[in-house]
Amino acid sequence: MLKDLEKMINEIDLEKEAPVLEPDRQYYYIAKAKKYVSAQAEKLGRSLTFCVTTFGCQMNARDSEKLVGILEQIGYVEETDEEKADFIIYNTCTVRENANMRVYGRLGQLKRVKKENPHMMIGLCGCMMQEPEVVEKLKKSYRFVDLIFGTHNIYKFAELIVTRFESERMVIDIWKDTDKIVEDLPSERKFSFKSGVNIMFGCNNFCSYCIVPYVRGRERSRNPKDIIREIERLVADGVVEIMLLGQNVNSYGKNLETPMTFAQLLQEVEKIEGLQRIRFMTSHPKDLSDELIEVMKNSKKICKHLHLPVQSGSSRILQKMNRRYTKEQYLELVRKIKEAIPDISLTTDIIVGFPGETEEDFLETMDIVKQVRYDSAFTFIYSKRTGTPAAAMEEQIEEEVVKNRFDRLLKEVQEISAEVCSVHTGTTQEVLVESLNDHDASLVTGRLSNNILVHFPGTAELIGKIVTVNLEECKGFYYIGKMVE
Ligand code: 5AD
Ligand code: SF4
Repeated sequence: MLKDLEKMINEIDLEKEAPVLEPDRQYYYIAKAKKYVSAQAEKLGRSLTFCVTTFGCQMNARDSEKLVGILEQIGYVEETDEEKADFIIYNTCTVRENANMRVYGRLGQLKRVKKENPHMMIGLCGCMMQEPEVVEKLKKSYRFVDLIFGTHNIYKFAELIVTRFESERMVIDIWKDTDKIVEDLPSERKFSFKSGVNIMFGCNNFCSYCIVPYVRGRERSRNPKDIIREIERLVADGVVEIMLLGQNVNSYGKNLETPMTFAQLLQEVEKIEGLQRIRFMTSHPKDLSDELIEVMKNSKKICKHLHLPVQSGSSRILQKMNRRYTKEQYLELVRKIKEAIPDISLTTDIIVGFPGETEEDFLETMDIVKQVRYDSAFTFIYSKRTGTPAAAMEEQIEEEVVKNRFDRLLKEVQEISAEVCSVHTGTTQEVLVESLNDHDASLVTGRLSNNILVHFPGTAELIGKIVTVNLEECKGFYYIGKMVE
């Protein structure tokens, strides 16, 4: 597909006006940007390079693949050493304050690099850019940034690059929201054998601590036909595992012209020949249907893993978080899931120190962790996000108290997950081989259906293949195994 696209782009007549309709308009700008890039490359006597750094979640990782796809079509070549790159892009996250601090810290360093290398371009995009205070701060104190855009107009990347080439000034384009989904733009996969696939964008839940609905906009589902077509193409290109992505996949399809449930979409995806594994993320407990549990139970391709963020074990705090379930309802849901799919692996997200959280509330969280026995849990210290309802709540909790609770929770979570992980010792399971082992080149690293990693003797030819492995020894959070001939 990329070859066809390249051919089409090379044939575009730049003497004509840019088309109005997408994606043709972006193809036109890709062609135009390509001219600027090759002119610069000729002057320098070498190819121009780029380096994209991704902060945050899987959604951002997928967006970065789209950025890379466009950059490569334009003629940039990837450079992993950021300081050597001609075009540096940060795809930012703002879900917690420390994500923002990291971006400012790195930008401070880039200022020095750009001084020595004035033709270098710096682009910022992603969730943080959707916050007006951030853009104000950048305009005031980070004048050396070349290009700023948000989450809704990432598809316009090529057009924005052209604007920057033609204006020599900081280019800023942020949209408050959008109802548009542009299909068929290039994207470059990080892995040849697995890929994320967006099924919906945005979030309508407005959990009271969360900034996502403000920076990612309202929920929009992609058309099932477009999703299936994308996966079919990926499979034809060697992909065996896909991860369906959305902030709240369980409410997929509600706003489509012909509404469809997430469980129905999964059944359609399951039919795609050659596709071997299906994952998805993230599920909101309030929307997880019996229909979905049934589909997962009967599926041969859907992985035995469910990420089901609980956030807190206290019904009182859950209500203040606007999660729309109680501790009891969550536990009942877990009971149903485990009854239907006994070997499922459950993972979660937990926030400690939400405003008003008492020691009693915290003990409820410890209790739910003990009852559910998660395979793993991401634990977060509550971070106050300006503009969210929780930021205005009284009783923000003292840092020391939060830190103490966080440490206790982390210890509990880790002890449980080591125990839960080890139950598979001695079993034989299918593993998708993902890479050579980072530390020992005689080993390869792969993932079980339940997302646990296993390292075992093997060579690079196995990468991207699903093989059968005996799980010989559990090392806490991963296994050492041996391939079964
Ligand atoms: N503070 C701390 N953690 C947060 N999350 C979302 N917003 C905040 C916040 N303000 C966590 C939630 C969510 C995960 C992606 O990030 O646990 O599930
Ligand atoms: Fe944020 Fe809640 Fe939406 Fe998740 S479901 S993105 S936590 S508002």
